[in-house]
Amino acid sequence: MLNRTAHRALAAPTDQLGRAMHDLRISVMDRCNFRCPYCMPKETYGEGYRFLGATERLSFGEITRLAGLFVGLGVRKLRLTGGEPLLRAGLAELVGDLAALPDVEDVALTTNGLLLSRHAHELQAQGLARVTVSLDSLDPEVFRTMSGGHGHPNDILQGIETAISAGLSPIKVNCVLERGVNDHTALALLEHFRGTPVIVRFIEYMDVGNRNHWDLKRVIPSKEMQAIVHAHWPLVPIAAQYIGEVAERYAYADGQGEVGFISSVSQPFCGSCSRARLSSEGQLYTCLFATKGLDLRGPLRQGATDQELESLIRSVWMARADRYSEIRTSPQSAEHQRKIEMYYIGG
Ligand code: GTP
Ligand code: 5AD
Ligand code: SF4
Ligand code: SF4
Repeated sequence: MLNRTAHRALAAPTDQLGRAMHDLRISVMDRCNFRCPYCMPKETYGEGYRFLGATERLSFGEITRLAGLFVGLGVRKLRLTGGEPLLRAGLAELVGDLAALPDVEDVALTTNGLLLSRHAHELQAQGLARVTVSLDSLDPEVFRTMSGGHGHPNDILQGIETAISAGLSPIKVNCVLERGVNDHTALALLEHFRGTPVIVRFIEYMDVGNRNHWDLKRVIPSKEMQAIVHAHWPLVPIAAQYIGEVAERYAYADGQGEVGFISSVSQPFCGSCSRARLSSEGQLYTCLFATKGLDLRGPLRQGATDQELESLIRSVWMARADRYSEIRTSPQSAEHQRKIEMYYIGG
């Protein structure tokens, strides 16, 4: 058994492809108040669907304890996701606990924005730095198609306004593009946010989970979208903000702000993927397209020590060889296996 000092001296782990663990995405809630067909199609997630019970989800104390161990292994960035994280009662309290962990450089939140105006000020006061809001279209009908019939774009815009007034910065808008569904409204979305500090990012529609009827023909490659935007408002590339940033960044040449493209299908970024994912039930996944995870809740609730938990996490990360997006079309890919659903693993 290692003593405490020797244990602390162990280097931060790297995986089989030499990647360190830098980000932890924590799903705090498997439920969502939307039913986006590309994530939680309502045919599957209807009234009778069984979500986790409250005691099956990690408590705030359990999440904070695990997050602290991840930080000890090199994680510096924490992102709260869902489902919809703002459905988790008292989320600001968790933000406060996480922001207070030593060595955490960034606490962020990804939300669909429906409840954001209600919570933005409190979240900021507890230490949330910034927020990313999913918003696929400003056209109310297209919006409802993409959200499975829930909400109105004005609710989300109000959430964004409140987040700006609360001082959350930067604010990013994630827009998943699906050919023939919302692509004709993409320029109007950009137009709305041009000249504001809000950064819109287009995401290629991905084959996450097993139930979203994904079809490559409905993916709009970033290059195509970028050319459309560039023809309208010339773009100039700007450097990534940090190594492993998933979005390619561009500035409008006329100084009216920034646009990003997340090309997980056409230009996979597995080579620099430093993200670990913790589900609301306490499973650790090392890839968005994982087919299985490691249960941390069991040992946690059975009284495992910090050192035991840390060594479990370390060994999973050291064994990691995931690069799903790079091998998507090859026979060894998880394509034909059962993948974890996006709402469960948190995007
Ligand atoms: P920043 O810290 O602001 O750069 O955020 P982020 O881009 O890491 O987080 P965000 O939740 O905004 O991620 C945007 C989207 O990019 C996700 O929802 C996914 O659709 C996609 N994405 C993020 N991380 C991964 C990843 O590891 N693999 C793949 N394939 N897609 C990812
Ligand atoms: N493809 C691409 N992005 C997706 N998201 C959810 N499902 C998909 C998918 N199939 C995005 C959401 C949100 C983020 C968490 O993941 O729109 O911005
Ligand atoms: Fe909910 Fe986000 Fe999934 Fe849409 S993409 S159903 S908002 S978790
Ligand atoms: Fe990381 Fe897996 Fe996404 Fe590749 S496919 S970038 S390994 S999460």
